[in-house]
Amino acid sequence: MTGPVLDTRPRTALMYNYYLGGKSWSGVDAQAAMEVVRSSPDVPAVARENFRFAGRAASWAVAEFGIGQVLDIGVGIVHDVPLDSVEKCVRAVSPDAMVLAFDNDPVVLTHARAWRPGYGGVLRGDIRDLDSIFHHPDAGDLLDLTAPTVVVLAAVLHFVADPAAVMAGLRERLVPGSVVVVSHATSTGTEQGRVDDMTGAYEEASSPIRFRTEAQIRALADGWRVEHDLVDVQNWSTDGTRRYAPYETVRVVGMAAVLPEAPATVEVAHVVG
Ligand SMILES: C[S@@+](CC[C@H](N)C(=O)[O-])C[C@H]1O[C@@H](n2cnc3c(N)ncnc32)[C@H](O)[C@@H]1O
Repeated sequence: MTGPVLDTRPRTALMYNYYLGGKSWSGVDAQAAMEVVRSSPDVPAVARENFRFAGRAASWAVAEFGIGQVLDIGVGIVHDVPLDSVEKCVRAVSPDAMVLAFDNDPVVLTHARAWRPGYGGVLRGDIRDLDSIFHHPDAGDLLDLTAPTVVVLAAVLHFVADPAAVMAGLRERLVPGSVVVVSHATSTGTEQGRVDDMTGAYEEASSPIRFRTEAQIRALADGWRVEHDLVDVQNWSTDGTRRYAPYETVRVVGMAAVLPEAPATVEVAHVVG
């Protein structure tokens, strides 16, 4: 008799939970995470800074633009992390905001069901298939897609082969005035050998990681109005007052951008002859 095939790969969500000091990981996740930390000892500190960035930027966007709904896509496991989640940070500035989370890893969903980490719900959705999020059968009554939305993409686009397609898909589905909060691991400013080692450690994981240059990450905001430009996540602030030195062995950078009104079509007179 054959049973279900168990997926024994390290899971990116659980490796990240290990970096953050959570307790949800298994031996295989911890082993892969330790390999990453061996080549880049700053990873746990940068993971914590990334987690804080997501909450800081999402709550800023909600308060600044008076937006009432937030999608946290690639939420990961939050219930046992000793830091305030996006949901907590958003509710601190807007108690009635709808904060909905998505992740494509069924293990994340299992933890969310057991531990109820807050959020209006944690649903299964894959960012490479935006319809699985925007047309999720359980999201319909919660989301109003005719109103601006804050979309949080924290440390998730580096697990995607074509992040520009994700950003284009969001532009098609969101209304102007919506805000996207992005963070992404960058190869810029880190020794190539370390980047290669980290990439190698993630090769067998549930999603391989892709470090991109700062220029490639900034280009993801083409078609958006960048409100707060790309900086190391620990330095992201709305008043430019955070000035910490970049981490040497790994860098994650973040930015926030607003979807502008579509430019008016310009009538071009064709003069023939
Ligand atoms: C590094 S964790 C980031 C968690 C959280 N966003 C944060 O920054 O604190 C990446 C998360 O993205 C999820 N993920 C990876 N690929 C995804 C995809 N294609 N669609 C949705 N979630 C994805 C993983 O399962 C994991 O939970």
